[in-house]
Amino acid sequence: MAAEPEEVRIAVVHGPNLDLLGQREPEAYGRQTLAEVNQQLADAARGLEVEVEAFQANGEGELIDFIHDAASRTAGFLVNAGAYTHTSIALRDALVGVGRPFVEVHLSNTQAREEFRQRSLLAPKAVGAIMGFGVESYILGLNGLVSHLRRG
Ligand code: DQA
Repeated sequence: MAAEPEEVRIAVVHGPNLDLLGQREPEAYGRQTLAEVNQQLADAARGLEVEVEAFQANGEGELIDFIHDAASRTAGFLVNAGAYTHTSIALRDALVGVGRPFVEVHLSNTQAREEFRQRSLLAPKAVGAIMGFGVESYILGLNGLVSHLRRG
């Protein structure tokens, strides 16, 4: 009997302060909690026949350690790096260093906000970036990443 094809696994990386979703600046980030975002991602993943593994941390080092650790079991990363998007060369180096494609997502439209949010250190290395659609940004990003991976 032919072996089942191995399931594609995507790691979702949530950066600093995203643990506060639901209570944090709801006018910018909506009222859904991180648990609800992860549930929606798991539901969407089931429809796409992929698996998602979600991780959140507030520290840059913890996020980098997770990326290093998860890379060997992960086809690609879906990343909302929060404020580190705008500041962290180390996070960019980690994502590039593990050699897996990644898609950048943001709940808010960072291009329509303060100037310091308009620059992303990650986007030039990403497959693509999706922003401004609230939780839907993650779902659109997941779809884009999976299409990218399936195109080969
Ligand atoms: C964010 C945008 C960032 O500028 C901000 O620091 C966040 C959330 C977003 O999802 O809209 O923490 O990444």
